[in-house]
Amino acid sequence: MPGEQLRTIQRFGYIWATLGNPSHDLFKIVEFDEPDRNYVVQGATRVSVSAPRAVENFLDMGHFPFVHTGILGEEPHTEVKPYKVDVYSEPPEILITECEFYQPQANADSSTGADTEYIYRIPHPFCAVLYKTGSTHPDRRDVIALFGQPVDEDCVLVHIVICLATEITDLAAMRKFHQTILGQDKPILENQVPKRLPLDSRSEVPIRADAASAAYRRWLKERGLRYGVLTGSPGRAA
Ligand SMILES: [Fe+2]
Repeated sequence: MPGEQLRTIQRFGYIWATLGNPSHDLFKIVEFDEPDRNYVVQGATRVSVSAPRAVENFLDMGHFPFVHTGILGEEPHTEVKPYKVDVYSEPPEILITECEFYQPQANADSSTGADTEYIYRIPHPFCAVLYKTGSTHPDRRDVIALFGQPVDEDCVLVHIVICLATEITDLAAMRKFHQTILGQDKPILENQVPKRLPLDSRSEVPIRADAASAAYRRWLKERGLRYGVLTGSPGRAA
């Protein structure tokens, strides 16, 4: 209504608004409350694809050697090893653990290749949080969050925020690193057909590497999401 103010909160360096009256709080990322952590809001990248497509791509380790060659992956290390997917109801989220992938340059300040461990959280239909090893603190993970801000059903502003347990010594190098990664993803994403994420189970390819994607699609379907997705049979818009 004209003049009506949206409910807003500040979290993770952003102001979040809601059009409705949510029954629960926005998800938390507890690392943002650790006083010795530093976080960087990487900025927004406009990608002509639906927000769920951007989240699904963020979860996909299989594309690392082919899209982020020499950085997040390289041949012959192309195998996605088995990992674990758990779906929780309170709060509603998907947790993907025991992911391991060889990465030639896992982070902006990496100087050698390493087997990198990943944990992914999907706490929101348009947001995902990645926890990865590779920082100088072996027991504390770097946190990289993707917040998808839909522009419309076929276009999203992808916001990346990085939260580190180490001091950020070269901010320009870090920004360049993440801009390079997203710049490599953007044309791949924009060529995806359809731009909206199909949720029909017959659209899924049941291979092991896609277990995270399959769980995410099922989760969106069970939650009744209609925005940025296709809910009908393959080949038919819904
Ligand atoms: Fe990527």
